[in-house]
Amino acid sequence: MAKITYIEHNGTEHVVDVAKGLTVMEGARDNGIPGIDADCGGACACSTCHAYIHPDWVGKLPAKEAMEEDMLDFAYATDPARSRLTCQIKVTDDLDGLIVQMPEKQI
Ligand code: FES
Repeated sequence: MAKITYIEHNGTEHVVDVAKGLTVMEGARDNGIPGIDADCGGACACSTCHAYIHPDWVGKLPAKEAMEEDMLDFAYATDPARSRLTCQIKVTDDLDGLIVQMPEKQI
């Protein structure tokens, strides 16, 4: 279980407990948090689960796989240093305290 803070583009914060084994995207979806659309359901095929990782956390996440890197090219207003596809980040106990911020919109 990890406590994850999702911050909407307008600054609204949602702090939720997300079970180990789910993805960061599923944590938002299952808690009805707006701003992460996840149109493809987590298959790394849509880029609408894009979010910015808090700078303190960027280096603590597993590296991007090539497929995520390619798909991020289609996301809206990416930041090369902080953008990730949240369906590609598995929740572990180590992610307790993670903070992600949603973009102004998904594509
Ligand atoms: Fe489609 Fe993440 S949910 S790429």
